[in-house]
Amino acid sequence: MHDRPHLVLIGPMGAGKTTLGRLLAQQMQRPFVDLDTVIVQAAGVTIQLLFQREGEQGFRKRERAALADVLAGPPAVIATGGGVVLDPDNRHALRRHGYVVYLRVSLATQLHRLHGDTSRPLLDTPDPAARLAALQAQRERLYLETADLVFDADAGSPEALAAALAARL
Ligand code: S3P
Repeated sequence: MHDRPHLVLIGPMGAGKTTLGRLLAQQMQRPFVDLDTVIVQAAGVTIQLLFQREGEQGFRKRERAALADVLAGPPAVIATGGGVVLDPDNRHALRRHGYVVYLRVSLATQLHRLHGDTSRPLLDTPDPAARLAALQAQRERLYLETADLVFDADAGSPEALAAALAARL
């Protein structure tokens, strides 16, 4: 990862990007940036409200701008949102400026971690499992295509996973 400034975590909702990212940043003594948080701070409203007011398209536009800003900033560990890879410009920018790790998890793990979550508009559906499976079917190829490293984040404590991932960087 040594020729690119950032360490970037990609993967679906519930993969542990934020949790692992924070731990890795501590270990690496680097700033941690959560892209969703940057978007919310810039907009001054929650992601649910952004989706309501501007639609997914409006959210994606803000996501693209926030990503460009963060990638232009000081070297960091960056946790992205699950849909960041949908945009080809994002994929290109991620690979250019970051060492990209795809956190791979099972649907069961995603469901377990996201149980009761109300902050993610895409899961506001009667059948979140079907939605997660459909999103994964659409996005897996993009995660794989963008990643420098695929890391199995399905089992283990966050601390153990962070240590195992750090050892592979
Ligand atoms: C999204 C994932 C969310 C957030 C938004 C859309 C997606 O981030 O960006 O709700 O399209 O998968 P997390 O992956 O951090 O949950």
